[in-house]
Amino acid sequence: MNKAVIPCGGLGTRFLPITKAIPKELLPIVDVPVISHIIDECVDSGLDQILVIISPNKEIIKDYFKPNEMLYDKLMRAGKSDLVKELELTRSKAEINFITQTEALGSAHAVSLAKDFTGNEPFCLALGDDLTVNKYPVAKQLIDAYEETGSTIIGVQRCDGDDIVKYGVADVSKSAGRFNLLNGIVEKPPLDALPSRLACYGRYILCDIYDYIQRIGKGKGGEYQLTDALMLQCKESKVYAYEFEGKRYDMGDKFGSLQASIELSLERKDFGEELKKYIKDLAARI
Ligand code: G1P
Repeated sequence: MNKAVIPCGGLGTRFLPITKAIPKELLPIVDVPVISHIIDECVDSGLDQILVIISPNKEIIKDYFKPNEMLYDKLMRAGKSDLVKELELTRSKAEINFITQTEALGSAHAVSLAKDFTGNEPFCLALGDDLTVNKYPVAKQLIDAYEETGSTIIGVQRCDGDDIVKYGVADVSKSAGRFNLLNGIVEKPPLDALPSRLACYGRYILCDIYDYIQRIGKGKGGEYQLTDALMLQCKESKVYAYEFEGKRYDMGDKFGSLQASIELSLERKDFGEELKKYIKDLAARI
């Protein structure tokens, strides 16, 4: 498997006002946008063919991945060729393609636009506002899980908080280790009707999904929902929820983004130590 699809839909209403002008996928963790981190996760998982699905008002995402000739020229003349290399690092490791979803017809419709790109091969679907961090990249964990089952795998994690109502929640039966056989997914259930505490956190390995997408009608919000296609697949074949290892950040949420910025910055060689000292000082003052 070498293909990943990253849908960047959504208006980013939870992150207004900045998302009036800047797509949430381009919001930075200090100096690197979320989508670049997600592409790195894919590349580190062996997925070097990437398709990013954008909406018409998110063309600026494409610009981020284009070479900036004027800037590069200046940097080269200033003897900073290493910096140019660094800026082109992601593109040197992966082929990044774009497709525009011209109508907001839902997540399943967005995924269906990837059909020519993926063909009938299984692929990783990584939602553009879910950031996952682990030494053993989450996409790779799911690929390895797929190698064991040969069927669609949905990345889940236990969520004990009330915010579980924001997610697709797995309805599972048999479980063995990190694998849970899925009966279905309930999209954003109320707290008193949770099928489990396993939340879907934006990472999937999808196989044969287009057959199921073709068969669903419009669902919630009058849109074609991926969850409906997955529900159908659960009914007709084996689909697994895999409890992945690692930390997941909701980058469409202000607090989630702040947490990611702090925690990832603590790991930085250039100012991680300085930040640690600052946080300790600050904690003593507040
Ligand atoms: C989507 C999915 C949901 C999943 C979530 C993860 O919801 O529909 O099942 O749990 O992403 O972030 P959205 O955030 O687009 O409302």
